[in-house]
This record gives sequence, C-alpha cells and structure tokens, in this order.
Amino acid sequence: MSKDTFYVTTPIYYPNDKLHIGHTYTTTAADTIARFKELQGYEVKFLTGSDEHGQKIERAASEAGVSPKQYVDRIVDSFKELWDLLEADYDVFLRTTSAKHQQVVQHIFKKVYEQGDIYKDKYEGWYCTPCESFWLERHLEKGKCPDCQRETEWVEEESYFFKMSKYEEQLLEHIENNPEFIQPETRKKEMINFIKDGLEDLCVSRTTFDWGIPVPIDEEHVIYVWFDALSNYVTGAGYLSDEEEFNKFWPADVHIVGKDILRFHTIIWPIILMAAGLELPERVFGHGFLTVEGGKMSKSKGNVVDPVKLVEDFGVDAVRYYLMREVAFGTDGSYSTEAFIKRLNADLANDLGNLLNRTVAMVDQYFEGVVPELGPTTDYDEDLKATAQKELQAMEANMAELQFSRALENLWTFIRRTNKYIDETTPWVLAKEEDKKAELGTVLYNLLEALRIIAIALKPFLPVAPQKIWTQLGIESSIEEQSWEDALQWGLLTAGIEIQSGEPLFPRVDIEEYFANQVESEAAEEEDSEVETVEQDLISFGDFQELDLRVAEIVEAEEIAGSDKLLKLQVSLGEEQRQVVAGISNYYQPDELLGKQVLMVTNLEPAEIFGVESRGMILAASNDDEELVLTTIDREIETGSKVT
Ligand code: ME8
Ligand code: MG
Repeated sequence: MSKDTFYVTTPIYYPNDKLHIGHTYTTTAADTIARFKELQGYEVKFLTGSDEHGQKIERAASEAGVSPKQYVDRIVDSFKELWDLLEADYDVFLRTTSAKHQQVVQHIFKKVYEQGDIYKDKYEGWYCTPCESFWLERHLEKGKCPDCQRETEWVEEESYFFKMSKYEEQLLEHIENNPEFIQPETRKKEMINFIKDGLEDLCVSRTTFDWGIPVPIDEEHVIYVWFDALSNYVTGAGYLSDEEEFNKFWPADVHIVGKDILRFHTIIWPIILMAAGLELPERVFGHGFLTVEGGKMSKSKGNVVDPVKLVEDFGVDAVRYYLMREVAFGTDGSYSTEAFIKRLNADLANDLGNLLNRTVAMVDQYFEGVVPELGPTTDYDEDLKATAQKELQAMEANMAELQFSRALENLWTFIRRTNKYIDETTPWVLAKEEDKKAELGTVLYNLLEALRIIAIALKPFLPVAPQKIWTQLGIESSIEEQSWEDALQWGLLTAGIEIQSGEPLFPRVDIEEYFANQVESEAAEEEDSEVETVEQDLISFGDFQELDLRVAEIVEAEEIAGSDKLLKLQVSLGEEQRQVVAGISNYYQPDELLGKQVLMVTNLEPAEIFGVESRGMILAASNDDEELVLTTIDREIETGSKVT
C-alpha cells in the first residue's frame, strides 16, 4: 500500500533567546519538504515547537527577574512571529509545558519504570547546562563539553536511570536493517561508533531544579529535559490524545535536526521508543551548521545573523531561496550577505525574473497580451520539453533525499534552458515576418508554458513569487490547487487567455549601495536611539501613579540554594510582610541587609523565581553589572510609607 501521509518535524527550540539564521535554516528545510509533499498529494503534518523546561531556562528567567513561564511565553511569541514572517506553515506548535505533553511524558516514564527499565541510583559526573547533557570524564575535551566547548559542572545527586545499555544491540540492528534511518551517510558512522563504544545508562531525572515535569512516582524529581523534549514528537502526532491521528501519522517520516543533536535523536530517542513499545521514526536527518565568516555565530562575537532583518531587507522568498540553495543539505556552510545578494541577483532577478519579464513583454507586443496557439514545432521545442521532464524528475528524486540545493539546481537548469530557447528561436526576428506568426506563437506559448511549470515547481521553496507569476500568466484557477502532476505535464496552458504584465519579480540589489546604506542607517539608528530614549522616557503622570512605591524594611535575608545571584528576602511594609527575590547576592551579604529601609515596587505581578515566590521588587542602582547599590532613604520614616 502506498503511503499517503507524511509527518515531518523540526527540533523544538529552546526559548532562552531569539532565534537566528541557523534555526531559520532548519525550519525552512522542514517547511519546504512539507510543502513539496503536499504538492505531491500527501496529507502532511508539520510540527515545530519549543522546549521549555530545564535548568537553562530556569536560570535565564531568574536572571530576567520573571517566572520561567512568563519568560518562555514571551519568547515563544517571538518564535511564532518569526515563523509567520517566514511563512513556515506548521500544523502543530508543540510546547512542552502543555498539559497534553506532560501527560505523555509521565505516561512513558511510568511505563518504562514499571517494566524495570528505569531504576533509582546516585549520579556523579559532569553536566553541561547549555546543552543539558551528561558526560563521562573520558568524553570531556580539556574538561569542557565536547559538543559546545563550554565549561561543565560536577554534579552529584540522586537520580533515576534509564537502562539504555539494555537496548544497545537492538538499536545497532535497527540501524543496520534500515540504512535510511540515520542521514546523511557521513554522520552515520560517528553515531554507530558512539553506540559501539558502549552506552551508559542515562540519568533521566534531576533534583537540583524544579522547572520540569514531575517524575510521576516521585515528586522530588523532575524529568530530565531530553526525555521530556524528545517525546514531543509523539505528543504532537496525537499519542494518548487522538488515537486515529496517531495511527495515521506515527512513525514520523523524518525528523530534521542539526548535527549538534543528531546523537540524541538517533540513540536516546529510538531507545525511549523501543522501551515504550512504539515504532521508530523512518529517518533522522542531521544537517550541517551555518557559520559566519567561517566561525561560530555567537552573541559575544556579535555576528549573529538576524533572519528578521534579512526578510525585511530582501523579502521572504530570497531568504528561503538562499538558505535552500547555497549549501548542500548535510554539510556545513558559511553565511555571507555578499554571497546572498549575488545569488539573489543571479538566480532570482536575472534567470527567473528576466525570463518572466521578457516573455510577458513579447506576448504583449506581438499578441496583444493573449496567449497564442501552439503552432508548428521544431527541435528546439522538443528539447525544451524534454529538459522540463528530465529536470523535474531529477528534482523529485533529489527532494526524496532532502537534497534541496540539487533540486533547485535541476529547476534552474530548466530555467536557464528556457532563457537559452529565446536566444535560439529569436522571436524578434520571427515577429518581423508576417508568415512566421504561427512559429512565433509556438515560441511564446512554450515560454509561457515553461513559466507555468516553473511556478508550480517553485511553490515549496518560495511562498510569494509563484502566485505573482501565476497572476501575470493570467491563469484563472488558483495556484494553490496546482499539484506536482500538473507540473510534470507539458501543455496544460490554454491558448486565448489574457496575460497581465506586472512589476519585476525580484529587483536587482546593488551590493555596494546596500552596504553603504547599511552603514548610514546604522549611524542614523544610533542618533535616533539617542533622541528616542529621551522621548521613550516620558510617561504620563497617570502611568507613574500606577506604580505603588513604598518604603520597605528588610527583616530576613537568605541565600537561595542553587543560585549564585539571588537572595530571598522577607520585608515588612508596616502592616504587611512580604517575600521578594532580589538579584543582589553578589553585592550584599544577607546579614548586612537586616534592618535596612529600601524602596520597593509593591504592585508588581507575583512571579516564581527559582522556585521561590516573589511579590514585588526592591529597587537598586547599577552600572552594567559591575556595581549595584540598593536605594535607601535619606532619613528614617515609618515602614510602609508611600513614595510619591
Ligand atoms: O537543541 N546552523 O534546541 P536549540 C544550523 N531544545 N542550524 C542551527 C544552528 C546553526 N548555526 N544553530 C542552531 C535544542 N541550529 C533542543 C532540541 S528537540 C527534541 C530538542 C538549529 O534551540 C539546528 O536545527 O539549541 C539545531 O539542531 C537546533 O537549531 C538547536 O536548537
Ligand atoms: Mg543547542
């Protein structure tokens, strides 16, 4: 039976920061294959989401002075905005904080525990918080995390362990029997070697933080993030909530991930599924990393490429085209704005944009905008048609392998062939001879027909341009309804309809001018922001009055275990006592705070910070984290007095 559903996923990204061009790359790839499968007639499910638990998020939230949930809510919104901007058309946005997911994770944990594959023991070893991963001494590289090269922490705690080792042989067998399971081929060996090295049992619970799904049999523990995160793929397919949906879409056809987390997806995840008695995904594809000027993107280097700016400057089509075309899927690649603009100019503005422009201009000029009949044909016509068929077939084969760049190369071979066809048939010469009208008709019909096919084949890659091409071709039926079959067939365009010439699809970008403008606008932005801060600082008197500022007296202060910045304070407001969390532990000893009268905002929404409830905010002055001093009052006054 041929399969008519297709389930594709991206990683669920950590909402601890804004997403950059790297995440955009993965999501674009997943969206492109989802759209391609849809075009082929599959019923598609496309999942993306956010991985919201864990120590890293808990820390980031506490540094921002808000509760983890408040913190992730805001960032998740920004994820969704980015995917809207990119027109990434996901069906499921899976949040690991959803009740449905929590239920799935606890169910799997419990099942695996009850069958004896999870046991309690003590963990001693190294932990990388940014990667949320455990390491053995021998895995570390100069004491650092072998994945991200950052410092690891020594942790000792009671934990639950998952008997990964028990499934080693079964996993190796699966990999051997399913050669497509791990891709690309170049990374498969590395995964196999890792397994053959011997799998340690995996620590699957933590007690040092609270921000996670509780272990169902032991409330002291929360479930380790990867166990939680990986299970998202079955939650999103409907596991435990929609059996019909789950049977329809699971196992996933492909998990698309970056090479950084291929190991989690090809070792831990399949073993969880085996233990849970669920089928394994058909394929896991670990693509390469995008670097900038050959180096890793990082905040400290200030070279993080913001996809929002790229879309604003060049449009969503250009960004998606560049990402899918520039680097072979699987290998690492370097991002550069210059290469981006060159691609945009050469492929989109020149090859594609000019083809459309020249064609519609000639139809306007020679046939008053009406699509001519196909007349007598020549070898050129046959060759053009044969090229379309050959390249589209190759494109299909490459898409099956997720070779986006090669698929686009195939399509561009056809686009360039079509441009060459104009030079070969010289319509402007035919137009001069009255008796060549039928031949001229053939040429223009074929050009329009080629554009019809190109527009359909571009749909998975470009969300905007295909519709524009369609409108210019004057075809009445919507491009939405067009299928891959419609692209494979030559001659579906009907003569007699009226084209509608329009704006160029992709204006050329002048590289030097672009960079010159960047420099200018950056300078202008700096000036603006100076003016703006003054303006933004102005709030109405009413706004100010909404703040309830009071004199508070600190009556108790203690450190919060596991945090090196925070203190838990009990403060008196006269009649009332409150608990607040303040990030001042690097600047004040708990003892020296007792009895101090400080200023406090009392009507702030309560937040849970590091598992501690905080109701209000103590005010302090600081200069970029180097120093911090609490605001006190000039002379003593009753505690609880209002500050106005
Ligand atoms: O790892 N080039 O989330 P994450 C290409 N929450 N792709 C890149 C990239 C780059 N420079 N940087 C990031 C996590 N990516 C976990 C996943 S899944 C069950 C849990 C992409 O926010 C790439 O897809 O760190 C990589 O695997 C992913 O972002 C990591 O995202
Ligand atoms: Mg990561």
